Amino acid sequence: MRPAVTVNGRSRDLGEVGGHVTLLEWLRASGWTGTKEGCAEGECGACAVLVARDDGAGGTRWVAINACLVPAAAFDQQEVITAEGLGQPGDLHPVQQEMARRGGSQCGYCTPGFICSMAAEYYRPDRMSARNGHADHEHGPNGFDLHALSGNLCRCTGYRPIRDSAFALGAPDPADPLAARQIAPPPAPARTSVTSDQGRYVRPGTLAETLDLLAGHPDAQLVAGSTDWGVELNIRHHRAGLSIGIDRLPELREFTVGPGHFGIGAALSLSEAEASLAGQIPLLDALFPQFASRLIRNGATFGGNLGTASPIGDTPPVLLALGASLVLSSAAGDREVPLADYFTGYRQSVRRPGELIRTIRIPRPLAPVTGFHKIAKRRFDDISSVAVAYALTLADDGAGQQTVAEARIGLGGVAATPLRARDAEQVLTGRPWTRATIEEAAGALARAGTPMSDHRASADYRTAMLRTSLLKFFAEHPGRPVPEGAPTP
Ligand SMILES: Cc1cc2nc3c(=O)[nH]c(=O)nc-3n(C[C@H](O)[C@H](O)[C@H](O)COP(=O)(O)OP(=O)(O)OC[C@H]3O[C@@H](n4cnc5c(N)ncnc54)[C@H](O)[C@@H]3O)c2cc1C
Ligand code: FES
Ligand code: FES
Repeated sequence: MRPAVTVNGRSRDLGEVGGHVTLLEWLRASGWTGTKEGCAEGECGACAVLVARDDGAGGTRWVAINACLVPAAAFDQQEVITAEGLGQPGDLHPVQQEMARRGGSQCGYCTPGFICSMAAEYYRPDRMSARNGHADHEHGPNGFDLHALSGNLCRCTGYRPIRDSAFALGAPDPADPLAARQIAPPPAPARTSVTSDQGRYVRPGTLAETLDLLAGHPDAQLVAGSTDWGVELNIRHHRAGLSIGIDRLPELREFTVGPGHFGIGAALSLSEAEASLAGQIPLLDALFPQFASRLIRNGATFGGNLGTASPIGDTPPVLLALGASLVLSSAAGDREVPLADYFTGYRQSVRRPGELIRTIRIPRPLAPVTGFHKIAKRRFDDISSVAVAYALTLADDGAGQQTVAEARIGLGGVAATPLRARDAEQVLTGRPWTRATIEEAAGALARAGTPMSDHRASADYRTAMLRTSLLKFFAEHPGRPVPEGAPTP
């Protein structure tokens, strides 16, 4: 079968795109110029399009992603909808109608991206029923979650008319073609091989094929959601001789809940993992909304976040606090590595050439007292200056006081690697859960790592934030009040 993408219902040959031509470049070169380039690094959402994805129940879910970050070749035999495919002048889509009626667009550059993000939320199956008419500052009475637009920036209209348009949307008409399309499954991932003069993109069908290919080409570039790799392609102009698409490999997309652990497939997007977990790991629920935007989370994977071994990734502190381990697969077999032993240096790990991350294992039972503090310049959609994750078990000492039975604290942004705050954990363990213990542990936490000064934060600021974070965590989880006159440690 010739490599092709179905855009707005029409199949179009991919051509010689290799691994470096992004979906946005290919769409625009193919005439769908409604999809815009603002930043080419996932920050503005002007390039958002809809793709047909598995809804986890045998049907299709329309998912909005940043077309500027993903290789076009990854969409071989897939269905993509752009703003032009939603509606045309004289026959506008309900989302376009509301945006036009309520003045949601001025220069219009950002508008196709907003329309696509809004349409994905418009078609979310449980949107209307989830909130049952109850609105708050982030949700409309129609259940519209404003975080669906968190990856879209508008420089001239202002957000109130856009929000008003989103909150005015009704339920899709069952005869609406994209609503009707949701009943049938999405297209299966295709085995793909596409070459250009700048390199080859291959999507194998199985993990075994992938590992064989990787064994022969240990320098190949693995590509999952491409939210990191897309930035390397566009901004740093990196090129790979061979890119291997692993985002649709069934073996990397398994989600399991066993008596001993949760298993999260390394290639599940954060949005998919969030939906599968459905609140079962509260610490991850604290992380998800603070990780980039909905557009990015619809592509970004745990495997990609750990694959870079970046010291400022947001999943490592949380997974360290959860005591997670990684299943690494190669042609020689699988091995399991505790995440605490995975990072070996700046952007380095124990992962060997020819190995990939298959599964993230999170042991059960979970520690009951958890929290995640991401300290960044903006509340949402920003990179961490410091990230701290807590997972504690408190026990009753029999004398009406709570003591710390077990403490795990994961840190990001304070050293060349993510790390556990072992000294602070030691101060806490076995001690009463009181302000005095916390003050001492906060001192130990402030000494953790070797914070640097950079454009995000100074070393002093990072140190101060570590200390403050534990005090804040105690304020959030004061435990049972200490009886008056109780001895202090
Ligand atoms: C606008 C924007 C905002 C962002 N905000 C955040 C944020 O708030 N927090 C944060 O932590 N990150 C953030 N990121 C970074 C990025 O989204 C994450 O690192 C994401 O998890 C990467 O996953 P991916 O699937 O897109 O990885 P890809 O880009 O596909 O791959 C990244 C790297 O990991 C390797 N890799 C991928 N999968 C595997 C695997 N299974 N095994 C081994 N190696 C693998 C690849 O070879 C590649 O080198 C942001 C990025 C952008 C563009
Ligand atoms: S062009 Fe800005 S997010 Fe894609
Ligand atoms: S309408 Fe001009 S940037 Fe949004």
